[in-house]
Amino acid sequence: MNQDVVSPSPIRLVVLISGHGSNLQAIIDNITNKNLPAQIVAVISNKADAYGLERAKKAGIKHHVLSYNDFTDREDYDLALKNLIDEYQPDLIILAGFMRILSDEFVEHYSQKMMNIHPSLLPKYKGLNTHQRALDAGEKEHGCSVHFVTTELDDGPVILQATVNIEDNDTAETLATRVHQQEHRIYPEAIRLFAEKKLKLK
Ligand code: GRF
Repeated sequence: MNQDVVSPSPIRLVVLISGHGSNLQAIIDNITNKNLPAQIVAVISNKADAYGLERAKKAGIKHHVLSYNDFTDREDYDLALKNLIDEYQPDLIILAGFMRILSDEFVEHYSQKMMNIHPSLLPKYKGLNTHQRALDAGEKEHGCSVHFVTTELDDGPVILQATVNIEDNDTAETLATRVHQQEHRIYPEAIRLFAEKKLKLK
């Protein structure tokens, strides 16, 4: 073994989801294929029927449902979520299609330790329906961004972006499919950069 090559020890990830979990799957696959020095210590969903929970189960990853319906307000929910996450002592929190706005206190607790993926070339098209909005605006290019989470929605420092060309016959669905393919490439890559301590906030 070459003693000069020191592999970083796997970082601990907690992944938050609400739905399909294709980004979760991309991260699982990269870990399995040894492209990502990380381990997913827990998956948490705010929806009991999120398909991503099946993916976690199949991969043998601990998973939880924390439904907003069981809490009276956002602060209570965020506190419960924080307590659950912290039981796992993660190095990094991964928002992968987690469809809830988080309180400032929660976000600040994980300052520079929480990433999100957003389906647009930030700072363009924050919020929802990004593919249709890009088409409606007559954009020639669209894409996705991985960023650190800050208290402003979809506004934290960008880590990686990927661009796709918009074709004349694109619909929101065809565009979303191609953007998703890029998401599955750049999210694991951004996590790898974090794990290898190659990210610096400027
Ligand atoms: C992705 O499009 C991501 O950009 C957005 O939510 C979607 C999640 O998709 N934040 P999936 O659940 O990972 O398939």
